[in-house]
Amino acid sequence: MAIDQTKLEALLGRAVVDIGANFHAALMVTGDRLGLFRALGDLGPVTSTDLAKHTNTHERYVREWLAAMAAGGYITYDNGAQEFSLSEEQALAILDADLPGAFALAQAAVKSGPRITELFQTGEGMGWHEHDPALFEGTERFFRPGYAANLVPHWIPALDGVALKLEMGGLVADVGCGHGASTILMAKAYPRSRFVGFDYHRPSIERAREAAKHAGLDGRVTFEVASAMDYAAAGYDLVAFFDSLHDMGDPVGIARHVRRSLAPGGTWLLVEPFAHDRLEDNLNPVGRMYYAASTMLCTPNSLSQNVGAALGAQAGEARLRKVAVEAGFTRFRRAAETPFNLVFEARG
Ligand SMILES: C[S@@+](CC[C@H](N)C(=O)[O-])C[C@H]1O[C@@H](n2cnc3c(N)ncnc32)[C@H](O)[C@@H]1O
Repeated sequence: MAIDQTKLEALLGRAVVDIGANFHAALMVTGDRLGLFRALGDLGPVTSTDLAKHTNTHERYVREWLAAMAAGGYITYDNGAQEFSLSEEQALAILDADLPGAFALAQAAVKSGPRITELFQTGEGMGWHEHDPALFEGTERFFRPGYAANLVPHWIPALDGVALKLEMGGLVADVGCGHGASTILMAKAYPRSRFVGFDYHRPSIERAREAAKHAGLDGRVTFEVASAMDYAAAGYDLVAFFDSLHDMGDPVGIARHVRRSLAPGGTWLLVEPFAHDRLEDNLNPVGRMYYAASTMLCTPNSLSQNVGAALGAQAGEARLRKVAVEAGFTRFRRAAETPFNLVFEARG
C-alpha cells in the first residue's frame, strides 16, 4: 500500500489542532471562571504580571495561560511591549457572544465520557438530568446568544401571523425550555402575552423561575416541571421547541400532543440544529460539533425515554417534516435558518 505523504501530514496536522483544542477547551473555562477574559477586556493591553495582580491569580500560571490563548488565536500578543489584549473581534466573540459558554457546555459533557463509553456496549440511554450540573448552565450560555440575535428580530416575524398575535396578547408554551432563556426573551418582547415554559428537569425549571423573577416577569411567565408528552394543553397560540425535540424519546407522540395543545389556528415553532438531510453533506465543522454533541447528549437522552427514536442533532428537514406529518400537521415549512439552526413552522 502506498502512503500518500501529503494526506498523512494533513491528517496529523489536524490531529495536532484537535489535541491542542482539547487542552485549550478546559483552559477557556478556567479563564472564564477566573475572570481573565473579562479583565483583559477591561484593562486593555496588559502584562501577565498586571493581569495576575488584577485577578488575584498567580503570575506564572497566568503567563502560561496567556501564551496558550495567544497561540490559539483567542488573545493578541504584542511582542514589543510584551502585553496581551483582546482585539475587537476577540472581544466580540469572547465577551459579547459568550464563546466561553460554548466551551463550558462541551467541557461539562465530556465529564460523562466514561459512562457514554459503557452505553455503547449496553445500548442503554442516559437522561439529560444525569449529566454534570455544569451542563445545564453551559447549554443556556451556548444557545442564548443565537436566540438573542434571531428569535425576536427574525424567527417570530418569519411565522405566519404570529408576531401580530403576540403583540395583541397570546398564550405561548416553550417546551424543553431548560433555563428559560428563550421564554424570557419572548416575554420581554411581547408584554401583552403570557408564557409557560415546560421541562422535565426540575433543577432547570427552578433556575428558570429565578431568572423570570430577576427579570421582573413573574406572573406573566411561569415555569412548570412537565414532560413534553403531557404538559397542560391550554390552547396555545404558539408552541415552541428550541433545540429539544430531537432530544426526546417519542417525537411523533410529542408532536401529536403539541397539535392537541394548540388553539385553533395555532402554530408550532420548531427550532433544530442546522443539518442537511444526507450524512455526507454534514461532514463539515458544524456537523462535526453537532454529531459529537449528539453522541454524548441528545442520542443518549432520547434512548433513555419511551420509544427512543433517537433522531439525533443532525436530523435534517426531511426527517423532521416526517415527524410533523405523521403527527397530523398539514402544513410544514422552513421559515428561517442560520448557519447553526433550522427554523420550521407547522400548522393545521
Ligand atoms: C438541549 S436542551 C435545550 C434547552 C433549551 N430549550 C435551550 O435551547 O437552551 C434540551 C432540553 O430538553 C429537555 N427535555 C429532554 N427530554 C424532555 C422531555 N421528554 N420532556 C420535557 N423536556 C425534555 C431537557 O431537560 C433539556 O432542558
